[in-house]
Amino acid sequence: MKIEINGTDHEIDAEGDTPLLWVIRDNLGLTGTKYGCGIAQCGACSVLIDGVVARSCVTPVDQAIGRKITTIEAIEADAVGQRVVAAWVKHQVPQCGYCQSGQVVAATALLKEVAAPTDDQVDATMTNLCRCGTYNAIRAAIREVAGPRAAEAGAAPDAMLPTGMAIATLATGVGVAIALARGDVEEAEKA
Ligand code: FES
Ligand code: FES
Repeated sequence: MKIEINGTDHEIDAEGDTPLLWVIRDNLGLTGTKYGCGIAQCGACSVLIDGVVARSCVTPVDQAIGRKITTIEAIEADAVGQRVVAAWVKHQVPQCGYCQSGQVVAATALLKEVAAPTDDQVDATMTNLCRCGTYNAIRAAIREVAGPRAAEAGAAPDAMLPTGMAIATLATGVGVAIALARGDVEEAEKA
């Protein structure tokens, strides 16, 4: 079967009920999209299908035929995605980094749909789990992209970062964030 990922058609040999995540990672070697829970709960496997967030661990590959799939590797080809990654770097969002490609994909989809989401909209939409607890930094980065209108709806971005978290992200997240910004997924995985 043929599927389009990141603007390129790929001929793949897989059963129709194979999870899209398996095809992305194992058949095509695009390892920026992560396996977390495998049951549509954590969001680590998030990709865009025709611009809508999908949990690729539970999406059969045959549902992706004829549709445009975007993974973290191509997120910066999108103008909003590029700004999201820049904000992620500025706010030093990642800690271990494992959930962050899914978070960036989900934030990009949100900001393309709603240019200046309220905190309630962010909380309702960004359901990706982060075991490191980077939620405040994620919200600050989303506010950064959304601009002043979002900032008016809540606290100033820097005020959302408890000092300990800011220091922790600074210490451990730089390598991952920069690797993500470059689209260098192998470096992000190593960091
Ligand atoms: S791995 Fe798909 S939602 Fe957790
Ligand atoms: S799981 Fe989210 S940064 Fe570690």
